[in-house]
Amino acid sequence: MVKLSPSVLTADFLTLRDMLPKFEQSGVDMLHLDVMDGIFVPNISFGVPVIMSIKAHTNLPLDVHLMIDRPHRYIKEFASVADWLGFHYEAGSNVAETLKEIRANGVKACLTIKPKTSAEEIYEYLPLCDMVLVMSVEPGFGGQKFMPESLDKVRKLSAEAKRQGLNLEIQIDGGINAETAPLAVEAGVTVLVAGNYIFSAENVEETVKHIKSL
Ligand code: DX5
Ligand code: ZN
Repeated sequence: MVKLSPSVLTADFLTLRDMLPKFEQSGVDMLHLDVMDGIFVPNISFGVPVIMSIKAHTNLPLDVHLMIDRPHRYIKEFASVADWLGFHYEAGSNVAETLKEIRANGVKACLTIKPKTSAEEIYEYLPLCDMVLVMSVEPGFGGQKFMPESLDKVRKLSAEAKRQGLNLEIQIDGGINAETAPLAVEAGVTVLVAGNYIFSAENVEETVKHIKSL
């Protein structure tokens, strides 16, 4: 069954607390937290203190997506609040060392690629990853249109993980909705991130159930 990780980026943070029990009851698997520094991406979101507040009100595993420049500088801080911690291949850190450091902190490691990065570029790092994240929009903002080219990368990464005998989660992020989610699952995605689709839904429980049934 595909896993779902709602992105809180465009949520109303003051009402998020009421949403958390609904997510837990409807079968959400983890919560996706987008950290942006205004340098690696042209937007600023939140950091460790906000994640700690969320953590205090949910048992859901926290899936932290770092969109920050040279993320190795902050692995310790984010590893202390995350269950899954991902950073961008393009962000200027030593990829292997950073993945190893995440795992050494007892956290699942995720390597993320932007739309212009090919799947092949990260094949050598897959044994150090618990998850790879294929961006299906340019990172920085919620509510953008899904890029169908990302599906080919999902297929390639899924095949390569099998070839290497790895148990790897493949996550997709950006523009996931009722139309694009089935395409992603068919291509081999095992974890769907969805922001606007979940947070603008009239009935969150029904929407979550629908997505989980794909
Ligand atoms: C974009 C973020 C996404 C974003 C997804 O850079 O990484 O997680 O919140 O939002 P939707 O699902 O609305 O495209
Ligand atoms: Zn994200």
